[in-house]
Amino acid sequence: MDIKLQNLTKRFPGRRRGGSGEVTAVSDLSLQIQDGTLVGLLGPSGCGKTTTLNMICGLEKPTSGRIFFGEEDVTDLPPEVRGVGMVFQNYALYPHLTVLQNILFPLENLKGAARPSREEMRRRAGEAAALVQIESLRDRRPRELSGGQQQRVAIARALVKMPRVLLLDEPLSNLDARLRLQTREEICKIQKKTGITTIFVTHDQEEAMSISDCIAVMKEGVLMQQGHPQRVYDDPSNLFVARFLGTPPINVFEAEIRGQVLYLLGQPVMGAPGVPDQPVWVGVRPEGFTPKEDGPVTCDLDRVEALGRDVSIVCTHPACAAGTVRAIVSSAREINTDCSKMRFGLQPDKVFLFHRDSGARIPFCPVS
Ligand SMILES: Nc1ncnc2c1ncn2[C@@H]1O[C@H](COP(=O)(O)OP(=O)(O)O)[C@@H](O)[C@H]1O
Ligand SMILES: [Mg+2]
Repeated sequence: MDIKLQNLTKRFPGRRRGGSGEVTAVSDLSLQIQDGTLVGLLGPSGCGKTTTLNMICGLEKPTSGRIFFGEEDVTDLPPEVRGVGMVFQNYALYPHLTVLQNILFPLENLKGAARPSREEMRRRAGEAAALVQIESLRDRRPRELSGGQQQRVAIARALVKMPRVLLLDEPLSNLDARLRLQTREEICKIQKKTGITTIFVTHDQEEAMSISDCIAVMKEGVLMQQGHPQRVYDDPSNLFVARFLGTPPINVFEAEIRGQVLYLLGQPVMGAPGVPDQPVWVGVRPEGFTPKEDGPVTCDLDRVEALGRDVSIVCTHPACAAGTVRAIVSSAREINTDCSKMRFGLQPDKVFLFHRDSGARIPFCPVS
């Protein structure tokens, strides 16, 4: 099922008298989601992710804008007829019901012709349980399950109605690191197996990048960028997106363009043909630094951390906004840790320019 969000806006009225303090949770959001794909909706806490999901499933009514499933405008449809399965951020299972009863619950709540026969319900619940591999747990109660198992029950419960669309709101946030990794792979597998169009919400960029066919990055209710995870990483449209994706994060320096050359603290770094004179932010991905004796960027070496395959060179540079600069280079390279200075060359495709005020990307073709 293709999903189309068209200029979606959601405002919540202010608590204060006279309606002041109104919150715009989602602002003019337009997004196309292709049938059968898994989309990662990504952004910091409070950026409007949950509100977006709530509008898609019908729990919140948009202030303006439309929502389409395929050709059908579902904006005014009540939640129960939209065919959406949702796993909430705090997936609450019914504690007094067994796993099987929890999974059956949404079917038993169906009314009239939509309600399947008893036999059909049990068959579907069995299928959903098998899909998330919890068949052997069907008679247990939620408190007798691990966090990961509870999460799978919540997913089975969302799948049992055979939804057209599956919405997962930070489904892994209650799990420990190892289980998170395992469960996210399982969600990815289940999604591929069922082919249900899925929106996966997270504030964890690594999680979103690893399992999504497409990511959509939001900030303060506004869609910043959408695309294949690698494309967005390699071609961020602004400083916010560049900073939000990648661990360690991109290194950001105060810099300047003068006479079509990029300067860091008066030091020429690389040619920037066609870019007008102006102060800029320059972002360099950690993997974009190459240790080089006559390299144009000189940092003060702090320490070298072993990461196994790679090493992380931690240093400082007076023009670096965050204080520390992190370079990731192959551990096969000899690094002289006796020096207090470290000089780097920059890999042109890992260097991005941004407007100093707006943070918008400045297109350029660097020459070294
Ligand atoms: N029911 C509500 N009433 C008032 N403000 C709300 C309500 N729900 C969410 N908000 C506000 O809308 C913004 C977006 O919230 P939310 O969609 O929950 O963000 P996220 O899921 O990305 O953390 C926040 O500023 C939040 O405080
Ligand atoms: Mg949320």
